[in-house]
Amino acid sequence: MGSSKEIMDHAEQALIHTYNRFPVVLDHGDGVFLYDAEGRKYLDFYAGIAVNALGYNVKEFNDAVKAQVDKLVHVSNLFYTEPLANAANKLVKATGLEKVFFTNSGTEAIEGAMKVARKYAFMKDGNNRDHEIIAMNGSFHGRSLGALSVTGNQHYQEAFKPLIDKIVFADFNNTEDVISKMNDNTCAVLLETIQGEGGIYPADPDFLKAVREECSKRAILLILDEIQCGMGRSGKMFAYEHYGILPDIMTTAKALGCGIPVGAFVVGEKACKALVPGDHGSTYGGNPLATAAANAVFDLFEKYNILGNVNEVGDYLGKVLEGLKEKHSCVTDVRGMGLIRGMELSVPVGPVVSKCIERGLLVISAENNVIRFVPPLVIGKEHVDMMAGILDGVLNEV
Ligand SMILES: Cc1ncc(COP(=O)(O)O)c(C=O)c1O
Repeated sequence: MGSSKEIMDHAEQALIHTYNRFPVVLDHGDGVFLYDAEGRKYLDFYAGIAVNALGYNVKEFNDAVKAQVDKLVHVSNLFYTEPLANAANKLVKATGLEKVFFTNSGTEAIEGAMKVARKYAFMKDGNNRDHEIIAMNGSFHGRSLGALSVTGNQHYQEAFKPLIDKIVFADFNNTEDVISKMNDNTCAVLLETIQGEGGIYPADPDFLKAVREECSKRAILLILDEIQCGMGRSGKMFAYEHYGILPDIMTTAKALGCGIPVGAFVVGEKACKALVPGDHGSTYGGNPLATAAANAVFDLFEKYNILGNVNEVGDYLGKVLEGLKEKHSCVTDVRGMGLIRGMELSVPVGPVVSKCIERGLLVISAENNVIRFVPPLVIGKEHVDMMAGILDGVLNEV
């Protein structure tokens, strides 16, 4: 194997430069630790951006994936497989919704959800010109042209216009603003139950309940994006469970496959018949390898009571972050729930994250002033203490 420097140079020769990667070559992982090409150890508080919920080198997960590799990796959606049937039913049971379509990423799940909304509205009134989707300022839903169209961040959108038409933006957690933008052409309201990339902002309970109610009254579909905050990260399997509501459509990905690419949009009773044969498809979506991974994830979540751990360690993380806020004046806010938390700084976050990484702690940012904590859901309190020790030292220097 080459040195880290050689590997990084080799990669940069051939990769389109869409990422400013950290200067670290990750080689392998174990538990909640990652190791670079020189064998240096890092405590993981980012989980491959909220993906690796079970941590690394998890024997039961690896065995399930390997067994499926040896059996059957892919068949397309022209046939049935048992892993597909099982994973779909597990998702239906976990969400309280009706029907599932598997995708290969979160972005594709958003695309599918948008198509369901448009089709549902088209079936009602035959209009295929004017149906609007209300999305939130500060949101993030992905980079394809459809998902980018509903991502409320000009910086990501600007160079790629024209995007898809009839998207209206409203302020997250502003009930009046969202409701004032609803009209007879509105087919859906799309929001993250906890905004992730936008800076870790949970939906206010009053806001989400009022939007749910108004959507129901007007036959507008409520789409909740749970790609980052779902799959146990908030302390419930899906974050909307904290609010006592159900969406009409929800999107999931990231931790659903714990690193094997798989996503899904899951549709409730109202719109689950909107898509019919010929309306949507994916060659890979829901293939036996991806769905075997998802099945293993659901089974291991239950076996190891992952939600119990998120609640216990998540509460502890919240208290520890509050303590750091009290100690360091550059910390202006801490927020979030479970094991999705943000620490807002009055200074640029980039150098803070870089220093943490140099000291063996992998954290990432959200926006340009928030440190994002989305660790594997199996971390213990001792790992929270270890993280806080490193971060405290770094904050002392800013
Ligand atoms: C809330 C949310 N939606 C959608 C996406 C896009 O998912 P993916 O990168 O798997 O396409 C992300 C990714 O960060 C996300 O956080």
